[in-house]
Amino acid sequence: MLRSLKGIVRFKRFEKNPAQRRLNKAANIEDLRRVSKRRLPAGVFDYIDGAAEDERTLRNNVSSFSNYEFKPRVLRDVSNIDLSANILGVQTPFPLICSPTGFTRIAHHDGELAVSRSAARSGIPFALSTMATRSIEEIQTTTQPVNSAHSLSPRNWFQVYVWKDRGVLRDLLDRAKEANFEAIVITVDTAVLGRRERDVRRGFTLPPQLGIGTVLDGIRNPSWTWDFITNEPIRFANVVGKSADDGSSAISLADHVNAQFSQSLSWNDIEWFRTQWDKKIIIKGIQTVEDAKLSVKHSVDAIALSNHGGRQLDDAPAPINLVGAVTDIMGDELEVYCDGGIRRGSDIIKAIALGADACMIGRPFLYGLGAAGEIGVDWVLNFFKEGMQQTMALLGAKNLSELNLDLIERKR
Ligand code: FNR
Repeated sequence: MLRSLKGIVRFKRFEKNPAQRRLNKAANIEDLRRVSKRRLPAGVFDYIDGAAEDERTLRNNVSSFSNYEFKPRVLRDVSNIDLSANILGVQTPFPLICSPTGFTRIAHHDGELAVSRSAARSGIPFALSTMATRSIEEIQTTTQPVNSAHSLSPRNWFQVYVWKDRGVLRDLLDRAKEANFEAIVITVDTAVLGRRERDVRRGFTLPPQLGIGTVLDGIRNPSWTWDFITNEPIRFANVVGKSADDGSSAISLADHVNAQFSQSLSWNDIEWFRTQWDKKIIIKGIQTVEDAKLSVKHSVDAIALSNHGGRQLDDAPAPINLVGAVTDIMGDELEVYCDGGIRRGSDIIKAIALGADACMIGRPFLYGLGAAGEIGVDWVLNFFKEGMQQTMALLGAKNLSELNLDLIERKR
């Protein structure tokens, strides 16, 4: 009886790794978001997931992708699909970049190390935030290929906020240069910090303070709490000992940004960066065609159309809605990236068809990290890659140069 039952029923092998078990049950980014919501303390999840004021920008970033529909072509041989792209002059397996996110260790103790390793395994660029909780040197060491058989191909970029203290800034740039970082990303949408009301309501600080609410939350989320108390303290790793606010005491992010970062940042400062950094420069946070034109004038290498994932100005334009207008007037003078609201491979295909050179993601890999650590980030990058592949096949496009306005239109 048992033998004949075995003949018909195929038992699934039990997955011993609990993180992998969680990933096996996920079908998309929203599923990972739900898993990380369950596993992280509410304040931590809200810091990652939340946005400014009524969060309309965040919702609009995501929902605006559904304003566009494909015009799929059939009976085209799609047996070989090539997703490779050229990003800043380097052949890249698929057109995706991991955006800079501050305080990443809050989701998992490996933090930025996990994200940079995963990006390096995929061969795509990773941008380390000024507010990172792993240092420039740690990233360099962990993503360095050990020998020629090593499968990591690191492409590290450094994101800069403009510190009032130019000495701190100069030191960061020198270290990034020394560590062979390929580019700097100057974030220009953060003159002051947006009002993130989930954090205001909770009195959320970085690092999180252990009040009674956190203790209760810790009991509900034992694995995160264990991770938090058994690993070295979370700090702004790049400025430890160099700035009064290095994360060694709890601060509100708004106080930190408003005290440390320059509100007088202007186009002249972009010229200053040119004198300090002779490799590639990307401006992140362009939100109008006019500023895109000015970026060309200031001869930067790329711009990221971005509203900081909706975390700054509420009712800012959705990046995907800017792609067509910006690339229309642009030609090939600089690369254009679409950053914000990307949750599926098909979103990336839409952005490329409208004229973008690549896309950037933030929350998706943080949800992956919170749900399952480094293999969660791998899952996310693979999800986007497979989604792109599938969309191209269904759209009848073999490579990125075949993605153009003939294959997409704005819904009427
Ligand atoms: C960010 N973002 C960000 N950007 C930046 O230039 N420097 C930073 O330190 C941070 N920190 C940060 C933390 C967290 C928790 C999030 C979610 C985002 C913005 C980020 O680089 C990117 O622009 C957005 O995340 C893109 O939107 P999606 O992909 O999250 O929708």
